[in-house]
Amino acid sequence: MAKYDRNFTDELRERLSIVDVVGRRVPLVKKGQNYWGCCPFHNEKTPSFSVNEDKGFYHCFGCGEHGDIISFVMKSENVDFRGAISELADMAGLKVPDYKPRPADVVAREESFLSIMEKSAEIYYQQLFSQSGNVALEYIRRRGFSDEMIKKYKLGYAPKNNIIAGHFANTRQDILLATGMCRRGEYGMYDFFRDKLMFPIFNARGQIVAFSGRCLDGSEPKYINTTDTELFHKRRTIFGFNFARDAIHRANRSIIVEGQIDAIQMQCNGFPETVAPLGTALTEDHIAILCKANRNIVFCFDGDNAGRKAAARACDIVMPFLRDTSDVRFAFVTGGKDPDEILKNSGTDAMKKIIDGAISLTDFLWNLANTNFPVLTPGGRVSAEKFLKQKTEKIADVALRAEYDKEYKSRIFNQWHKWKRTERDVIKINLPDIDVITKNTVIFIVNKYPEIAERYGDFLATLNINMDDNVVDMTLDEKSAEKYIVSLKLQKYITRLQSEKKALVSQLLAGADVQNKISEIDAKIADATEKMNTLITI
Ligand code: UTP
Ligand code: MN
Repeated sequence: MAKYDRNFTDELRERLSIVDVVGRRVPLVKKGQNYWGCCPFHNEKTPSFSVNEDKGFYHCFGCGEHGDIISFVMKSENVDFRGAISELADMAGLKVPDYKPRPADVVAREESFLSIMEKSAEIYYQQLFSQSGNVALEYIRRRGFSDEMIKKYKLGYAPKNNIIAGHFANTRQDILLATGMCRRGEYGMYDFFRDKLMFPIFNARGQIVAFSGRCLDGSEPKYINTTDTELFHKRRTIFGFNFARDAIHRANRSIIVEGQIDAIQMQCNGFPETVAPLGTALTEDHIAILCKANRNIVFCFDGDNAGRKAAARACDIVMPFLRDTSDVRFAFVTGGKDPDEILKNSGTDAMKKIIDGAISLTDFLWNLANTNFPVLTPGGRVSAEKFLKQKTEKIADVALRAEYDKEYKSRIFNQWHKWKRTERDVIKINLPDIDVITKNTVIFIVNKYPEIAERYGDFLATLNINMDDNVVDMTLDEKSAEKYIVSLKLQKYITRLQSEKKALVSQLLAGADVQNKISEIDAKIADATEKMNTLITI
C-alpha cells in the first residue's frame, strides 16, 4: 500500500477507539482487560467476542474472526477497504485524502522540512552554550534545569541576529518559509524567533515540528509558538507527549498541566506521565490522543479563578470521552503557584500530595453547581440542577450518563433538602411548641410528598421537627397536604405578627409613638387570616 494510505490509516487508528467503532454495532461490557460482547459474525447467545482497546484489535473465541477497526467495518458492513476508510473518516471527522502514492517531491519536501527543524534545534542548542546564550543559560539553570535536561529536551537559544536565515541561505526559500522558522521582509529573509529561550515541540514520533520561544526580558507575550504549518497543528499537538507516552501506559494515567516548563519539571521529578497543551487551550484532539492509551486523567490547574474556569472548560471537553472505567480528576495548586514552583520549593512529595488529593470529576461538578448557584433557595436549586443535567448530557456512554444522573439526584435529595440535615444552619424563629398531631402530619407529608417538602423546605426547617421520627399513616391527598402546610405557615406567621404587636402595644402603653406600626401589623394579620380562611381546614 502506498505510504500516504498508511499515514491516514494510522491517523484513523490513533483517533478512533476500537471500542467506539465496535460499540456502535455490538453492546460491549468491560471485563478485566478487554471488552466483551456477542459476536456479530456468528450466531451466539453468550459473549465470546473480545475487544482490546489498547491494541486496537478484536478477536472472537467462538468463530476465530479477528482484526482491527478497518476490517471490522469491512466485514460488518460488507464494504471494501475504501468504503471502510471513508466511513471511519466520517466518524473521526476527517477528510479522506486522495488515494495516490505520495509523490517523491512531497516526500522530499517533508524530509527537508524536518531536517530544517532538526538543524535549527542544533544551532539553538549550540548558541545556548556560546557567549551570546549566556543570559539564557543562566536563566534556565536558575529555573532548575540540569545540563542533561537541557540536552534531553533540546533546549536552546535563538540569538538576536538572523542565524537561521543565514544558515539556510542556500535552501529553497519556499520550504524555509513553510517551516515557519523564517519570514520574508523588505530586506530579505529574517528569523521568526530572536532573543528567545527555545523549546522544540516534538510530534508523537519524536520529530521536531515546531518551536516555542520564551522571552527573556519580561516583555509580552511571554511565549511565542510556531504558527501552524503543514507538519504542525497546534490543536493536535501535546507538549511532552513523545516523552510521556510509555509512562502514560505504565502509570495507567496521564497528568495534564498548564505550562510547558511545568510539564518538563514534572516529567523529570517523579511524574513522567505529564503533558501540557500548547498555549492554554485544551482541545478535544488532545484528549482523544491521550484517551487512546487510557481514560484516566488528572488535570492540574492553578487554584485561582482562571484555573477554575480552565478546569470547567476541560470538564466539558472530557465528558464525551468518559467510560465506566475512566477516572478523571482535578487537582488545584493554590497560592498563586504552578507545579514547577511547587516542585522547586517543596519537592516531589508536596506535589504528590496535591496530585493524590485531586477530586473526582463527579465532585468537581457538584462543587461547581454548589458555588455557582444559590442552592439555599428553590430557584437556585433549579438552576443548579439544570446545570448538572446539561453537563451529564455530554456523556456519550448511555449507562454511565444514567448513573451520573442518579448520583446527582441522590445528592440533591440528601444534601439540598435542608430539613433532612442533622445540623440545621437556618435561623430559627421562636415558635410555640408544635403539638403531636401537627408534628405527625408534617412528618407524614414530608415523607409522602417530597415535592411539597422541597417547595416549603425553608419553612419546614424552622419548625424544628425531627423528620426521621416514625411516620404515622394518614389519608391526605397531595392538594390537601399542601394546603395544610400553607395554612400552618400562615398560622405561624400570624402568631409571630401577634407577638410583635404585643411588644409594640406595651411600648404604646409606655407612651411611645408606635400606632402606625400597630395598624400595619393589624392589616397584615387581617390579610393573612383571610388567606388562611380561604383554605379548606382539615
Ligand atoms: P503561564 O503564563 O502560566 O506561564 O502560561 P508559565 O508556564 O508559568 O511560564 P513560566 O513558568 O513563567 O515560563 C502557561 C502556558 O501558556 C502558554 C505557554 O505554553 C505556557 O507554558 N502561553 C503563555 C503562551 O502560549 N503564550 C503566552 O504569552 C503565555
Ligand atoms: Mn511558571
